[in-house]
Amino acid sequence: MNREEALDSVKANVENGNLVKHMLATEAIMRALARRLGGDEEEWGLTGLLHDIDVELTEGDMSSHSKLGADLAQELGASEAMAHAILCHNEAHGVSLETELDRALYCADPLTGLITAAALIRPDKKLAGLVAKSVKKRFKEKSFAAGANREQIARCSELGLELDEFIELG
Ligand SMILES: [Fe+2]
Repeated sequence: MNREEALDSVKANVENGNLVKHMLATEAIMRALARRLGGDEEEWGLTGLLHDIDVELTEGDMSSHSKLGADLAQELGASEAMAHAILCHNEAHGVSLETELDRALYCADPLTGLITAAALIRPDKKLAGLVAKSVKKRFKEKSFAAGANREQIARCSELGLELDEFIELG
């Protein structure tokens, strides 16, 4: 599977453009994490790109979300390691994080939401001028983008990354 095929499949399964953007954002952070930690950039990036491919198909059913996604990813040619990361990014299955790839996806996923929300409150609503310092400040405001799970983001420590560095990298 190449990136174009992965993105085509995401778009075929997900109508909501903001959700597609969320997956592209997760891909971007996963690529940066792979470069920083010595992971396979293509593998990590595509894991991020595909991780919520079943989000509309499962219609909010958390007991099937990410199980179906892992299966779909494997049908597209994703490795076992990629499928495992996709499966365990949803804690509802009780599958623990085992690899660096698992941990990377788990903490990158909510960071996208925090960064996007921090960009949207800027006057120009653009990411380009957003600095890590503002995102760090927002991290501490629990009511800001409350859906972006701070504990989950903070588990970047399990990858040997300080929160500041992780946010900067994101
Ligand atoms: Fe996600």
